[in-house]
Amino acid sequence: MAKKQSHFVCQQCGGVHQKWTGRCSSCNTWDSIVEEVEEGFSLAKSSNKATANEFVPLSGKITHTPRIITNNNEFDRVLGGGLVKGSAILIGGDPGIGKSTLVLQTVANLANCGFKTAYITGEESIEQVRLRAKRLELSNADVKLMTATSVKNIIASIKRLGKTDVVVIDSIQTMYLEELASAPGTVSQVRAASHELICFAKKHNITILFVGHVTKDGQIAGPKLLEHMVDTVLYFENERGEHYRILRAVKNRFGAANEIGIFEMQERGLVEVNNPSASFLPDRQENVSGSVIFAGVEGTRPVLVEVQALVSSAQTPTPRRAVVGWDTNRLAMVIAILQTRFGCFLGDKEIYLNIAGGLRVNEPAADLAIALALISSLSNLALPKDLVVFGELGLSGEVRTVSHSQTRLKEAKKLGFAQACIPSGKIIENKNFIFHQISHIKEAKKFFEMMLQVA
Ligand code: TYD
Ligand code: MG
Repeated sequence: MAKKQSHFVCQQCGGVHQKWTGRCSSCNTWDSIVEEVEEGFSLAKSSNKATANEFVPLSGKITHTPRIITNNNEFDRVLGGGLVKGSAILIGGDPGIGKSTLVLQTVANLANCGFKTAYITGEESIEQVRLRAKRLELSNADVKLMTATSVKNIIASIKRLGKTDVVVIDSIQTMYLEELASAPGTVSQVRAASHELICFAKKHNITILFVGHVTKDGQIAGPKLLEHMVDTVLYFENERGEHYRILRAVKNRFGAANEIGIFEMQERGLVEVNNPSASFLPDRQENVSGSVIFAGVEGTRPVLVEVQALVSSAQTPTPRRAVVGWDTNRLAMVIAILQTRFGCFLGDKEIYLNIAGGLRVNEPAADLAIALALISSLSNLALPKDLVVFGELGLSGEVRTVSHSQTRLKEAKKLGFAQACIPSGKIIENKNFIFHQISHIKEAKKFFEMMLQVA
């Protein structure tokens, strides 16, 4: 009988400790350490004989991986052109964001197109899934539904089902292997369960969609290694209860990372938003100070969003800074640049910053738009409604060029914008477009003066 060893494993970072402590010394998370039992194992004592594998050259025959098109344009784009056969995809997101809805809609649509699909849930009852299917008007789709949490039973059930194209596991944190003593959702269970399921799926060329929980700081629960094991990691995100849902590829072995798909949660499930710029802008008020349109790029797609800033006098000694859809540290940096390099003092002001529509912007290219929105709000001067802005700010106040300038400008032109405030540098002249190029944030003053004269 192999000797059983006990480890204390952090459920956040996977760090292993000799004894239980209240706080993980690797990632500083409180109350995340759980005892896990592992079978003693030594390769030297293993009875299995080793076989030497063949090495092959880099050049050689390449078979193109076939893809299953889900007919959901947004989902297909995030995946890099549909589901790759035999691949493992992990979809993470906050509770209630729509993970189960998305995977159910996907398998039901695929079943309606003739693919063999199965939906295995360890979270909900059959009735709950049926109710959701009814609400989505997908009850007639030929999806094989099952509640199960034992990986062994799941594999046996799929084997009995015969040829299957796509399997959903909702969620990986509820799955377990009897052989392991730890509870479902612990690092070793998540690792072992996903490993077994991925190996099985690859062997039988089944595409597997895992739903994954996220922890309170937005990471997929369990260690990062789950993300390493799958081929594609998608995060479902949404800022502050907006009805738009953003599906973002953070890792994709078969397509561009950072690609986004935009959905709207409606009465009857998730509906694709094919033209996000047009959807994010219509509620925009004209002639309002603090509002600037940022021409962003998410993945390969340009997205125009409204940056809203509100600067007001502080009522307390420590002024509030509230940010939605943008990085708080990056805002602090822009404020510091404005103070030191532009000469406007914001230290005694309350600042509220919002990216309208629910998108989270991660691009430094939005710096200039944020800075202009702050100046506009502080000075109560509205910028023209047909103006788009992009550019990155350096610490010395210089405005730096950003990638995909032409893509951004093309999208702006398509949506009826006629002016752009952008970094200096070479641009392709465009007859019906006015460019205001600035190379340092101090030139923003002149820019505002010029805008006022025109108005
Ligand atoms: P769900 O897919 O269960 O979320 P998750 O699996 O990520 O926890 O979605 C739940 C939310 O979506 C719930 O708050 C209700 C809402 N919803 C709709 O608004 N319309 C719908 O058609 C469906 C199915 C859900
Ligand atoms: Mg769910």
